[in-house]
Amino acid sequence: MQAFSDRVAVITGGAGGIGLALARQALARDMRLVLADLDAQALESARRQLGADPARVLLHAADVSRDADVAALADAAFTRFGAVHLLCNNAGVGFSRLATEHSAADWEWVIGVNLFGVAHGIRHFLPRMQAAGAPGHVLNTASAAGLVSTPGMSAYNASKQAVVALSETLRAELQAQQSPIGVSVLCPAWVPTAIHASERVRPPRFGHAGDASAASAAYAQGMEHAVQAGRLSADDIARIAFDAIAQQRFYILPHRRIAQAVAERFAQIAQAAQPQTAVAPETP
Ligand SMILES: NC(=O)c1ccc[n+]([C@@H]2O[C@H](COP(=O)([O-])OP(=O)(O)OC[C@H]3O[C@@H](n4cnc5c(N)ncnc54)[C@H](O)[C@@H]3O)[C@@H](O)[C@H]2O)c1
Repeated sequence: MQAFSDRVAVITGGAGGIGLALARQALARDMRLVLADLDAQALESARRQLGADPARVLLHAADVSRDADVAALADAAFTRFGAVHLLCNNAGVGFSRLATEHSAADWEWVIGVNLFGVAHGIRHFLPRMQAAGAPGHVLNTASAAGLVSTPGMSAYNASKQAVVALSETLRAELQAQQSPIGVSVLCPAWVPTAIHASERVRPPRFGHAGDASAASAAYAQGMEHAVQAGRLSADDIARIAFDAIAQQRFYILPHRRIAQAVAERFAQIAQAAQPQTAVAPETP
């Protein structure tokens, strides 16, 4: 997808962080915008921050872990603008605990948002985008955690590695169909956003996180520190992502050190060697 002007972008998790930065990039390229997030007030505040013309922006509250919400989001987007060209499955939540301290509800929340959210987006938007026959693109926000496994983040790592797998599979299928719709998977390391405080956006049906042991709390603090120390901003990540979309690049690794960690991991797998790459929270 090389032409952006007047095309329609849908961005989930668009009220803050990387999603809001993607929205800024989309508007800078003269796109029309569907901004989705959990909370209508947060969306309105995002629209004001963007200084976006209300006639070119649709705000839509949706919990991406709910299939019916994403179906309604797609209906709203196509009803308002008649087409969608760029789908950014970006909404996601962070969670840091020892593997033994993830409750069933923790798993359901993290997988529900980070993986099912992407799957619902693909299911409800792609067939209509394909039917239009026009060039388009799907950007799935995974993470460096989708490529290397950092201790203390079992459900997050599993969800993001699944998003990478889903994206690779979707790309292969669309290529086999000679579809004009491209796919990219965005794999940033740490970026200063509110991802370390995701408990604030945990829907009540997933309950609350239980008390953390000292070991789990240390991992959570490490994650918060790493997020806050991230050297590339959300705006940097969004700009890199849009450049990659324009160039039809599939893997987007904005942090160079991650490529090295990926190379080491796959060399270890190919040699059936003991895993050596423990990516410490502060590494990126
Ligand atoms: N910040 C990082 O270090 C980092 C690194 C790699 C990948 N990511 C990924 O980037 C994406 C964006 O995260 P961020 O860093 O901007 O965090 P953020 O918390 O600042 O923004 C996430 C947005 O998603 C929304 N959201 C959360 N649950 C939702 C749900 N169920 N339905 C709809 N919206 C929901 C939140 O309200 C928020 O506006 C996520 O997928 C995250 O996993 C972040």
